[in-house]
Amino acid sequence: MPQSTHHYTNGEITIVWKPATCIHSRICWTELREVFDPVKRPWIDMASSTTERIIEQVRKCPSGALSYFRNEPNSSNPETVSGERAEILNIQVLPNGPLVIHTGCTITHSDGNTEIREGKTSLCRCGASGNKPFCDGSHKKIEFKG
Ligand code: FES
Repeated sequence: MPQSTHHYTNGEITIVWKPATCIHSRICWTELREVFDPVKRPWIDMASSTTERIIEQVRKCPSGALSYFRNEPNSSNPETVSGERAEILNIQVLPNGPLVIHTGCTITHSDGNTEIREGKTSLCRCGASGNKPFCDGSHKKIEFKG
């Protein structure tokens, strides 16, 4: 079943939010509350900070539930974390957690569908995610070690 996806834009960039992927780390709204406020609707206010500050915050999302892309023509290719094109794929193995891909990437699912991911993507390493191949935070519940 496809997960819901929400988009928020300020004209320069679009934030993509996938609530089913969120592991509720609270990093976004504790560090940039003027933009990410879980009490307000919509909970993301793109007009309350600069594009670069919003990008900086989105890059800290540990689950990949928040990602972004620039609203430029011909920008269908995802950017890397640094804003440059990926030449070497950077994958981080988090202790007791997921594999984190630090660049945009294309995921080809087992049914053949492909999905372009912008920003950071976390892939389940523990096997317990209810949203495979993505991490949904279940590794904490099962106290995954590895
Ligand atoms: S590694 Fe996070 S749910 Fe499996």
